[in-house]
Amino acid sequence: SMPTEELEERVRSIKNKLGRKLFIPGHHYQKDEVIQFADATGDSLKLAQLSAENREAEHIVFCGVHFMAETADILTMKNQKVYLPDMRAGCSMADMADIYQTERAWAKLTELFGESILPLTYVNSTAAIKSFVGEHGGATVTSSNAEKMVQWAFEQKERLLFLPDQHLGRNTAYNIGIPLEDMAVWNPLANELEYSGPLEKVKVILWKGHCSVHENFTVENIAHVREAYPGMKIIVHPECRREVVALSDMAGSTNYIIDAISVSPPGSSWAIGTEMNLVKRIIQQHPDKQIISLNPHMCPCLTMNRIDLHHLVWCLEELEQGKEHNLIEVDSVIAENARKALNRMLEQS
Ligand code: 13P
Ligand code: SF4
Repeated sequence: SMPTEELEERVRSIKNKLGRKLFIPGHHYQKDEVIQFADATGDSLKLAQLSAENREAEHIVFCGVHFMAETADILTMKNQKVYLPDMRAGCSMADMADIYQTERAWAKLTELFGESILPLTYVNSTAAIKSFVGEHGGATVTSSNAEKMVQWAFEQKERLLFLPDQHLGRNTAYNIGIPLEDMAVWNPLANELEYSGPLEKVKVILWKGHCSVHENFTVENIAHVREAYPGMKIIVHPECRREVVALSDMAGSTNYIIDAISVSPPGSSWAIGTEMNLVKRIIQQHPDKQIISLNPHMCPCLTMNRIDLHHLVWCLEELEQGKEHNLIEVDSVIAENARKALNRMLEQS
């Protein structure tokens, strides 16, 4: 197989040739070998905003996961094509809510609560879920604007259904003052509500999904850092469990974590609870600070990592030859409703 330098040269030459007709967005969780070629890097909110603004790129080669590429397709024009360098780059969290389960849940929840519920979905969800939410007056959220969007939801309706990440939903609702005992959990496999209190108290219904990367950060990891590194600050992503967030010093989105560490003075020490590629990059960018992963085994996102230099080169070479492999094309009816949910978020952001 081709040596790395040759692969990198292929990417450079295709990028030079296509110029602004080609746009490569890269999520912060992507590998360095890919991120070095990104025209823009960002968290999922920023990458969605950039897609909504970009009107000149004909080819968008999305270095991230499937739901992000779908979002880019929904927010760009018909003539702008979105590609995912490896179609297996999915998201285990997004896979925890399918549209059949969601419709089945909605039927039961409206039986229990009538018209009093508004659905919100984390952008980490399929286009079909976003479409369902958009059709029912709800919106998408990202970890950067979740508090604002949950507040917005409570201006519309008395209670909300938060898909598909129970942890982001719980942490966000807790931060805006909703007591934990007013939160119920929706179990999509059993198709039932997990809640023992009186139904009228329920303010938030949390879909029982989670991120398989962020669930790896535990209270034991926190206890270890507190013991081994006194004075070290612990910062985690809100996809971590409630008890992990509660025991940390700070919690926030990908951009929040990057900014907090950037503005901290030289000599600061941090334990970070988020995806491995990002943690490694933050460590490299701050040689003047002591930075470790909150979980010593590091936590890679296996699906993010499926996008590597080889897949990027393959994808670029195919599209250079006019072959449209790995195209992400969201059905137009689904896209129209999903766009409503995304636009309600983008208007608030
Ligand atoms: P953000 O980019 O919104 O922080 O989301 C984190 C994530 O898990 C992306 O898959
Ligand atoms: Fe999905 Fe978690 Fe990976 Fe993000 S980090 S793509 S939420 S599995």
